[in-house]
Amino acid sequence: MSARTPFVCGNWKMNGTVSEAEALATGVRRLTGSVRGVEVGVAPPTVALTAVAKRLEGSTVRLAAQAVHPAASGAYTGEVSTAMLASVSCTHALVGHSERRQYNGIDDAAAADRVAALLGGGVSPLLCVGERLDEREAGAALEVVGRQVRAGLAPVGPDDVDRVVLAYEPVWAIGTGKTATPAQAQEVHAFIRGLLKEVLGVEAAAGMRILYGGSVKPANAAELMGRPDIDGALVGGASLNDESFAAIVRAARPSR
Ligand code: PGA
Repeated sequence: MSARTPFVCGNWKMNGTVSEAEALATGVRRLTGSVRGVEVGVAPPTVALTAVAKRLEGSTVRLAAQAVHPAASGAYTGEVSTAMLASVSCTHALVGHSERRQYNGIDDAAAADRVAALLGGGVSPLLCVGERLDEREAGAALEVVGRQVRAGLAPVGPDDVDRVVLAYEPVWAIGTGKTATPAQAQEVHAFIRGLLKEVLGVEAAAGMRILYGGSVKPANAAELMGRPDIDGALVGGASLNDESFAAIVRAARPSR
C-alpha cells in the first residue's frame, strides 16, 4: 500500500472578482475543514492571492498560484516571481497547464525553468502534462506525456522529489465535459509512475502524487480517484462552487 496522501486542488482560472474569491475560499475552508486524510488546495487568480491567503490563515488549505515566471526579478511586465508568490504564502504553483502551453507559449523547456525556480524558492511545483486529442488519436498519448514528464522533471533532484506534484490532464477532457474513463486515466498514470521509477528511482516514484484533471465532478470523482495510481484531482469548473468542490474532496478520502 502506498502512503500517498490524496491531494485535491481547485484551479479557479480567470474567474471571479477578489471578493468572490474571498467568499469561495471561505466556503472551501468551512466545507473541507473536517475532511481527514486529504490535502486540499486552491489556485485563485493572481490578483486574489493575498486576499485568499488571509481567508485561509490558520487552516490547512494550500494556496497555489496558476503561473510563475522563472526569473528572480526584472523587466518582465505582467509576470510574478517565485519570491513574490512565497511572500503571499503560496505553497504551490501550477506549471505547464495546457492553457498556458496553448496561449502563453509555455513549452517543455519553459516548464522546466519554472520547476527549477520554484524548487529554488521553496514553492512546490504542480507540473501539468497531457496530450491533445489529435495526439491521442494518432496513438501518441504516452509518447507526448512521457516527453513532458521527463522534460519538466529534469531539474528535480533527490532532495526535491517530496515537493513535486504531477497532474495528468488530457487536453481533450479539460472544460469539455468529456472525462477520460477511469481505465484510460489509470493507464496513463501507471505509465507515468513507471517512468518516474526510471527517472527518479523506486522510492520517489512510489511517493509522488499524480493527480487527474479534466472535467472532474462529484459524480465521477470517486471512481477516478479509486484507481491505484490516481492520487487526487486538479479541478477546474467544479471548483468554482464550494459545495461541489467539497464533494470531490470527500470522494478522495482514503477509505479504499
Ligand atoms: P476542468 O479543468 O475541471 O474545468 O476540466 C481542469 C483544469 O484545467 O485544471
